[in-house]
Amino acid sequence: MEISEASRRILASLLEARTGQQLATNRRWRIETALAAIMRARGFASIDQLVARLVSRADSSLGDEVIDALLNNETYFFRDRLPFDLLLGGPLRRLERARAATRKLSIWCAGCSTGQEAYSLAMSFAEEQARWRGWTIEIVATDLSKNAIERARAGVYSQFEVQRGLPVMQMIRWFEELGGGDWGIARQLRDMVRFEARNIIEPPPAPGRYDIILCRNVLLYFAPDMRRLAFNRLAEACQPDGALMLGAGETVIGQTDRFVSDAECRGLYHPAPARAQQSRVA
Ligand SMILES: C[S@@+](CC[C@H](N)C(=O)[O-])C[C@H]1O[C@@H](n2cnc3c(N)ncnc32)[C@H](O)[C@@H]1O
Repeated sequence: MEISEASRRILASLLEARTGQQLATNRRWRIETALAAIMRARGFASIDQLVARLVSRADSSLGDEVIDALLNNETYFFRDRLPFDLLLGGPLRRLERARAATRKLSIWCAGCSTGQEAYSLAMSFAEEQARWRGWTIEIVATDLSKNAIERARAGVYSQFEVQRGLPVMQMIRWFEELGGGDWGIARQLRDMVRFEARNIIEPPPAPGRYDIILCRNVLLYFAPDMRRLAFNRLAEACQPDGALMLGAGETVIGQTDRFVSDAECRGLYHPAPARAQQSRVA
């Protein structure tokens, strides 16, 4: 289906204004696929018709639905397993020693999609019960997409989703078959994660300061100024001795001076010492 250049531009600027994400030229084909369900459900004959309705502001929920549909929610359990192993190895041991007095760790998954990343962390802590006995492990997971957050809270995954990235032993241990091909995550893990619908460019969720922040595969398509703003938010939310983990193909180098690379662990970053930061934005 043909989409006019004007409609493409309107969708792209709506997406960027609301989420920070740019609609990359090579992702334009996604518009049709992403909006197909909305078009069917609402009886639009073309995307141009949908965009005209959007612009008329006659339908307040349409904008939210369109944004939600255009977001890329791709995720799976223990995505790129190596970073999880690294994070839960050395860096976590350092934080464990540093927090020995309070016995509390706060973790934020920013851009958590349907919850697999946060539940992967919860599983890792739950599987080391003896080590973390007496500790409070607070995991807060946020995403702009309300649909994704609802799914994450429900903790119900299809057979395909539950098998993706998860070894059979963990699947059997932490999931219950619900019938109809669905698998429900154990209540113990659900109780370990607090999910909230939230935009990353807004102030961080309570308690506001985190020992570990995961923001993986979220900022990849952000416009540069929005990405800088997002990094500022993440830096403000990260404890001075805390750590930020980005996705496998992401880096802070050339993007922000608020974080510096970990000397040993690729993909892991720490807040830059205050005097090293030169250009702060709001
Ligand atoms: C590709 S998924 C990555 C999920 C998970 N972090 C992972 O690596 O598997 C990116 C997620 O970021 C979310 N997202 C995009 N822009 C956002 C924003 N401005 N604020 C919060 N979440 C956002 C999307 O809704 C999507 O669920």
